Amino acid sequence: MTKTKVLVTGGTGYIGAHTVVELENAGYEAVIVDNFSNSSRDVLDGIARIIGRNPLFFEADCADYESFARVFELCPDISAAIHFAAYKAVGESVEKPLDYYRNNLVSLLNLIDLMGRNERGSIVFSSSCTVYGQPERENLPVNETSPLQPATSPYGNTKRVSEEILRDCTISYKGKINVIALRYFNPIGAHPSALIGELPRGVPQNLLPYITQTAAGLRERLNVFGNDYNTPDGSCIRDYIYVCDLAKAHVSALDRLLDKSPEIPGGIEYYNLGTGVGISVLQMLELFKKATGVAVPYRIVERRPGDVEQVWADPSKANIELGWKADTPIEEVLASAWRWEKKIRGI
Ligand code: UD1
Repeated sequence: MTKTKVLVTGGTGYIGAHTVVELENAGYEAVIVDNFSNSSRDVLDGIARIIGRNPLFFEADCADYESFARVFELCPDISAAIHFAAYKAVGESVEKPLDYYRNNLVSLLNLIDLMGRNERGSIVFSSSCTVYGQPERENLPVNETSPLQPATSPYGNTKRVSEEILRDCTISYKGKINVIALRYFNPIGAHPSALIGELPRGVPQNLLPYITQTAAGLRERLNVFGNDYNTPDGSCIRDYIYVCDLAKAHVSALDRLLDKSPEIPGGIEYYNLGTGVGISVLQMLELFKKATGVAVPYRIVERRPGDVEQVWADPSKANIELGWKADTPIEEVLASAWRWEKKIRGI
């Protein structure tokens, strides 16, 4: 039986690679497209070792129409796409807004154009909880009807604008383009095999890789950005979701698009992907110690400009409509992140 082919742009990235594994586990065939702008070719080996064969892969830049179109010529039977390929560093996006708009938006426009040539173009889009900004207290946890806020960085704005572009296209090309936009909270952890995981370039900007690198002795201590927020312990609160749970949500979204298409109401749906539980930075350090036995040294420093004080998800829409739930215990998630860090450092 031929498998349903699913294009995975950015399929060697952190979330992309874990999603490729879950797609293959679920009986889909992933068609990975990546230009390794923020990932490594070795990820393909990691994926191959987990799924037991080499995944289908094309090296191409999704922002380069000709090379991206070539993938569709070589693989004319692509049924759906999951679009991860994008730049994602908040700080860098402030320094290089044009790079972010060009890369993130042109890739998306090319994808819609190429998928729109199908009879039915089904697209799962990687969005972010950043579209909610800092929700009002009464809107916490945030659900999908919470008001969207102006983005605080060009990166965040590319997510907001991408959602709008997708919405406009579903309206104009009624039935031809169907979209599920997944609004991720904070993905963490690594595949249980420790064959794939997060590979930040340079000094990590995100909390978990900074914690694991400090635990591994690469960094002296974690800088906790502020302990004077209006939260129980004064540090910021986020909703940390296991990357494998997150990856599985993409399979559920895809099943829904391929089953329902073209009846997705309005052509586009939005889902929050989180656990529903908020964890503070200081709590995270405690949890990490409990899960791994490693006490990570830290100090409190100034707040990080642009940080949201607290945000966590109401994931009930995804729980009900996608039949999906992020249910891996946090200790297990943190242990997976630590196993991965030790593996890549040879500890
Ligand atoms: C941000 C964006 C998110 C984006 C992600 C990509 C917002 C609200 N979120 O996530 O959309 O997808 O970046 O990278 O804009 N922290 C420390 N010390 C550190 C690192 C982090 O204390 O060295 C704290 C931060 O202040 C924050 C928490 O840890 O409270 C999580 O930070 P991070 O992992 O960078 O994620 P977000 O800022 O939530």
